[in-house]
Amino acid sequence: MSFSPDFTQHPPAEEHSPAGLTYPDAFFPSLISPNISADRLRTQTPIKLGILASGSGSNFEAVAQAIKDGQLSAQIQVFIYNNPDAYAAVRAAKWGVPAVLLNHRDYKSREDLDRQIVQTLQEYDVQWVVMAGWMRLVTSVFIDAFPNKIINIHPSLLPSFKGSRAVEQALAEGVKIAGCTVHLVCLEMDSGSILMQAAVPVLPDDTPETLHARIQVQEHRILPLAISFAGSLLEHRPSSKPI
Ligand code: GRF
Repeated sequence: MSFSPDFTQHPPAEEHSPAGLTYPDAFFPSLISPNISADRLRTQTPIKLGILASGSGSNFEAVAQAIKDGQLSAQIQVFIYNNPDAYAAVRAAKWGVPAVLLNHRDYKSREDLDRQIVQTLQEYDVQWVVMAGWMRLVTSVFIDAFPNKIINIHPSLLPSFKGSRAVEQALAEGVKIAGCTVHLVCLEMDSGSILMQAAVPVLPDDTPETLHARIQVQEHRILPLAISFAGSLLEHRPSSKPI
């Protein structure tokens, strides 16, 4: 079976393109799996999301945009950030999403921080948690409060290249195909059941920045899709059994 990209199907240039990338770079062909259309994944009841981020928040914005566009049946109940300077907080304000700063420096232990995160998520009646660039390790306090209901996005084809320097490591190893993964969160970092992946070709002149920018284009596609996917799986299997 051959994979032939359809260049007529690329999204409009204004859609989530990282600054400075233009067609065809921004929309370089990629392979998404499982490749299920958003229409087939839409849940009957909107999913109540809590989103956590530490940085720029472009994935937060992709989720918000997918909801606005009717691609994802969900509502963002609350946005939590741990870094006072996170640009993601500016984006949350722009989208009118309640934002709560829980600065990890204010807590004695990871468990204390996680207890406060769980309490906040519960106060906002969150069903599913999305870690969209959340740069903190989680403890069992958090995992046990939302069993199989925490999603993370990571800029590599897991299980390769876990950790915070995934794109640099992929380039250093000379891989020809990089990508991104959306997975359920468990105690072990960047592990847990894989929900969706997108493969992204590595180009000869790629730097960590150019490769990461192209990976992010795909992150913005698969994160909303994977949230729908997880929600629709659970809608048909409401127990908390692992997916
Ligand atoms: C993404 O590359 C994500 O995979 C990783 O952190 C980055 C967050 O980017 N976990 P942004 O803040 O959403 O732009």
